[in-house]
Amino acid sequence: MASFSKSSTTVLVFFLTIFSSLHHFSVSSFEFQVGGSQGWVVPPANDSKIYNDWASENRFLVGDSIRFKYKKDSVMEVNDTEYKRCNSSHPNLFSNTGNTVYKLDQPGPFYFISGVSGHCEKGQRMIVKVMSHEEDSPSGGGGKSSGSHVAVSSLGVSALVFVQFVLSFVASRVI
Ligand SMILES: *[C@@H]1O[C@H](CO)[C@@H](O)[C@H](O)[C@H]1NC(C)=O
Ligand SMILES: *[C@@H]1O[C@H](CO)[C@@H](O)[C@H](O)[C@H]1NC(C)=O
Ligand SMILES: *[C@@H]1O[C@H](CO)[C@@H](O)[C@H](O)[C@H]1NC(C)=O
Repeated sequence: MASFSKSSTTVLVFFLTIFSSLHHFSVSSFEFQVGGSQGWVVPPANDSKIYNDWASENRFLVGDSIRFKYKKDSVMEVNDTEYKRCNSSHPNLFSNTGNTVYKLDQPGPFYFISGVSGHCEKGQRMIVKVMSHEEDSPSGGGGKSSGSHVAVSSLGVSALVFVQFVLSFVASRVI
């Protein structure tokens, strides 16, 4: 009897270890660099929508971060009215460090503009639409994927299958 309960404890510990690492995988997030390698700059005059084009090509999930890299510029997170006006006296975020990481901590739209006078009007502004993990079904949507989320979710699925296997193994031993 004693040896039986010892082995089931071992299996339980094993299962808990798997489960906590599964949790670790499922909350992993991704960091995007705004505008790719050129960073956060005033767009060329003939291509003023580069940031919204960039944002619509990516899929942002709650918990992801975006990094702004820039020189002699700044970034502000504002509301939609201020975004349209290219002007904010009370931004939710103001940063001019040259390297700003913003964590997308809730679903919905986020509005970013340059804080340098005239830059936002030339197109240095961006709307980022953030999805909750529930909205991010692997089959639906048709949205373009960042790649890394796909890898994470398929890893999650195979880990789930594995946990299911371990569970049925435990059940067959204990019952
Ligand atoms: C914008 O103009 C540059 C040259 O001035 C050109 O290389 C580039 O292809 C143009 N971009 C678009 C979107 O027209
Ligand atoms: C921005 O708004 C302030 C008032 O909130 C105004 O005084 C200022 O002139 C505006 N700047 C621009 C560039 O529109
Ligand atoms: C946006 O923020 C400004 C303050 O900077 C505020 O006056 C305005 O009501 C806000 N607009 C919305 C739609 O929340």
